[in-house]
Formats: sequence, structure tokens, C-alpha cells
Amino acid sequence: MTRVATTIGCFPLLNPVICAAGEPVMTEAGIRAALRAGVAGVIAKSVNESAAARNQLDRADYVRLDADGTPTSGPGVSLFNRSGLTQRDTAEWLDAIAALDREARVENQFVAASIVYAGPQGAISIAAMARQTGLRVFELNVGAPHASEAAPGAIVQETDPDRLSDLVRQVRAVTQGMQLWVKLTGLSSNLPALATAAQNGGADAVCIMGSFMGLVPDLETFKPVLGTPAAYGGGWALPIVCRFLALTRQATQTSLPLIGTNGVRSGLDVVRMALCGAVATEALSIVMHEGFGGFTRIIDQLVSFLAQRNLAFSDLIGRSADALHGYGDAPLTPDRWRDFVPSDTLVGSHPH
Ligand SMILES: Cc1cc2nc3c(=O)[nH]c(=O)nc-3n(C[C@H](O)[C@H](O)[C@H](O)COP(=O)(O)O)c2cc1C
Repeated sequence: MTRVATTIGCFPLLNPVICAAGEPVMTEAGIRAALRAGVAGVIAKSVNESAAARNQLDRADYVRLDADGTPTSGPGVSLFNRSGLTQRDTAEWLDAIAALDREARVENQFVAASIVYAGPQGAISIAAMARQTGLRVFELNVGAPHASEAAPGAIVQETDPDRLSDLVRQVRAVTQGMQLWVKLTGLSSNLPALATAAQNGGADAVCIMGSFMGLVPDLETFKPVLGTPAAYGGGWALPIVCRFLALTRQATQTSLPLIGTNGVRSGLDVVRMALCGAVATEALSIVMHEGFGGFTRIIDQLVSFLAQRNLAFSDLIGRSADALHGYGDAPLTPDRWRDFVPSDTLVGSHPH
């Protein structure tokens, strides 16, 4: 067992860095490249049963934004995108993923299937197909950000805890013996309730949280960049994810494994998510900024951080979450605000 090893429930991982679903892993070659970069596993690009969701890939578009929020042809720091789903035949894609998972298993890695949810029947039948192929991990994404923008019926975002429990229960019934991870939306404030609902339905872990939606006005044309609202991701998202990880850890009293996603750009970000309760992380757009080598860099940074402090990854999990106070318990700091305003504000005003 190395310093960076971790587990999601009873599922062992070589390290806490998983390649999340997305276009870079929409081909066998991409999945193999992610595995070669050293990730613990790969969530292969998602499927769903609707033709509308498949067609969406033909209208997909992507732009990198610089630190100033301006579209750039350089590497960029944020990604603004209108993604689609794989157009591969579902049965054939699941067979391909299962074959890769068998290869990965020899190296103690994994390859998982994922569905972006469009309705219970599709989720249940695709989950059952995934199990038949011998896949070990199934990720059910109930929170894809562009549900309200996509063609009607293509993608559904589940924000109702009762409906989510029901859905997960039905998918659980056809995925016996598999790991069932539920990826929750980033566009709802009731994540702790949704995580509890997924757990009650039989999920082995939840992944927190899906991307946010944004609109980027173009300062040259005055039109919206990409012409539509789109998913917006970047390192800036990490503290928002960390808060929800910590709140969910508290709500589930550490009984539910949490996977953090959205905003991981470095090994230190993996540490940050772990401190807030994540037992593992999923990262993707780093690959669209710097290639699959980004994963190797992140894992190396994590290894160095732990080695310098003689810590194991498991020593980090939940430390910040468990030290979280309510505002009422914060120390008294009556004049602290004065340090953060211009001196003009303080003219004629006296400290306590
Ligand atoms: C271009 C793109 C495509 C994505 N496609 C999927 C998908 O098919 N299924 C899914 O569950 N998540 C999808 N995601 C979300 C990612 O899996 C990941 O959770 C998210 O990008 C946040 O992490 P990051 O900041 O490391 O990119 C996609 C993200 C991007 C940027």
C-alpha cells in the first residue's frame, strides 16, 4: 500500500486521481492515454438512450478562457463548453469499455461506464447492459449542467431527493455486485439532501459536483461566446465544491464515500478536496488545457506533498470539514473590517 492509495468504500484505488467523463476519453486511445498517465481509473465518455443527446454532439463547441475571462487560442485557465454525448452504439461502446477495464484491472486500474440520465427506463436498461459486460463500476450522472438548454427529453437533472432515491434504487437493483457512483448536479443548493437520497437508494458513493452554467459576452461582437449559455469550469470552482463536500460529509456523518470533481488543477487541489472529505477526485478539463500529462503532474505533486510531510493520503480526509464552525462560533473580531476598506471609509470613524 503506497502513500497515495485510497478506497471508495471497499473499492481500492492506486491513487485518488480519476479521469472524469468527457471528450478526451470518448475513444479507446484516449482512455489508454489516461491510464498510461497514471490515473487510478477512467470514467469513459457518457452515453444515454436518446437520439437527441447523441445529435447534440454535432452542435458541441468549446472555448478556452484566459485568466481575464477572455476567449484565447492559448492554453487557457477555464473551459467554456457546450458538450454532447458519444455517438457510438451503446452496446458496442460498453463492450469496448469492458474490454479496457479487463486490461486495466491487471494494472490495478479501472475503466467505468457512465450515463448522463435522460429517464429512468434508459438508466435502468443501460445499467443492466453495463453489468452484463462484466464492468465493475457504473457512474450515474443525474446532474449534467445543460439539461435545461438541451433538446427536450435529452438530459434530465434530478434535484428532488425522493425521486432520486427511487431512481437509484431501481438502478441499484440491476447493478448488484458493481460499484454504483452517483454524480450530482452543481446547480442545486440541496446537495447534502441529494447525497443522502442517493445513499438511501443504495449508491456506493456520490460525486460532487457537476459543472456550473454561464454566459460569456464577447467584447468584440457583443454577442454571447458560442451563441448559447454553456458549462463553465475552472480552478475557481474548487472552493465551492469544497464547501459542498464538507456539508455533505457532515450530513451523512462520514458514512458515504465522497468523490470531488470540478476545478482540480494541481496535486494541491486534490489535497484540498480530501481535506473537505473527498476520498478521491475526478478531473477532466486539465487534459483539454495541457494534455494527459496533466494527470501525471497532479499525481507527482500529490506524492511530493505527502512525502514532505510524511503523511498518507488517508491522513488528510475530512480534516478541514471536521474543523468547520458555524458563524456563531467564530472568534470575535470587532474591528477586523477596518483592515479591508480604503482609508477614506474610516475618516471620522473610531475603533471599538
Ligand atoms: C467537454 C466536457 C465534456 C464532459 N462530458 C461529460 C460527460 O459526458 N459525462 C459526465 O458525467 N461529465 C462530463 N463532463 C464533466 C466532467 O466529467 C467533470 O466532472 C467536470 O469537467 C469537472 O471537472 P474539471 O474541472 O476537472 O473539468 C464533461 C466536462 C467537459 C469539460
